[in-house]
Amino acid sequence: MKPGPVALRELQAPLLAWYRAVQRDLPWRRTRDPYRIWISEAMLQQTRVEAVIGHYERFVARFPSVQALAEADTQAVLEAWSGLGYYRRARALHATAQELVARHLGVFPQRAAELVQLHGIGPYTAGAVASIAFDAPDALVDGNVERVFARWLGWELPRASPELKRRSWQLADELVPAAGAGEWNQALMELGAVVCTPRKPRCLACPVAAWCTAHRTGRAEALPLERAKPATLEVELLVHVVREGGQYLLVKRPEQGRMAGLLEFPSIETAPGEVLWPRALQAEFATGDELARVRHAITRHRIHARVVEARLLRPVVAGELADARGARWVYSSPERLGQLALTGMARKLCALLH
Ligand code: ADE
Repeated sequence: MKPGPVALRELQAPLLAWYRAVQRDLPWRRTRDPYRIWISEAMLQQTRVEAVIGHYERFVARFPSVQALAEADTQAVLEAWSGLGYYRRARALHATAQELVARHLGVFPQRAAELVQLHGIGPYTAGAVASIAFDAPDALVDGNVERVFARWLGWELPRASPELKRRSWQLADELVPAAGAGEWNQALMELGAVVCTPRKPRCLACPVAAWCTAHRTGRAEALPLERAKPATLEVELLVHVVREGGQYLLVKRPEQGRMAGLLEFPSIETAPGEVLWPRALQAEFATGDELARVRHAITRHRIHARVVEARLLRPVVAGELADARGARWVYSSPERLGQLALTGMARKLCALLH
């Protein structure tokens, strides 16, 4: 017989026992503060646990409550987020904190159905905060849970596909216990993170392999199926490193669009043109020696950057509107550079320059 939710209920006790015995000691597991759990979950959605720990501790030390985050200025939030990437998340977090304060007096709603009403909180985060902070009986699904479920049930579906998501949410809702949902949800994710890994799953160490269809049929590593890869686009970029009076010249990207509001070295796309840098710089440079060649990937774009020393032919004034789309010039000392909200590529360049 195919295992369904009824048979899978049998594996809940052994999975929980395993989680209680082996769970990693992580800073956000020592709190029930919904604010801290929310921040940790937002960070964990995009970054591995080891990389999150330091960022999490610095972030909650700097903004210890939802009120503190709501009142902070955007640039400070982006700076505290810097190094985690996906700054749109940091902006959304900031806006959500403001909404929580404005609409809920800074008090978190306790159920996922209420939490998802907030802008910037999706079903995963809503389930995580409700179940972990409040032990509400709410389910959650992330990439780990999708993979675990696909293997348990032998679903021959592509990773992150709508059908895999739909079935996973349905099963998660069926399995979530009335009490102890937070522990159950974390046990599922923990299994996915440390045993039921995307590659080379450690089935011999798995506490619930006996219930797993993919293990039985030798399909564990193959499921979920690979996604078809989108075509990559090659982008050539000329990056100007301008040092004036000991300060680097940077451009703040427009507040809309990709990498919104982040700082970068003035760059011009040379081919194919207007893909990620769809604006003229409105400054003229004399270019000098080549400093480096850098490769960088952003989503499906592969960037080949030629980094040159450059000099401005006419001075530009910091803060002055540089173009109609709202890019702005900024100067920074070399020491402060690392603390600014830079694009990923600018961060890579800083490491090369020093
Ligand atoms: N991945 C993201 N959040 C997690 C959590 N709370 N426990 C285990 N793995 C996670």
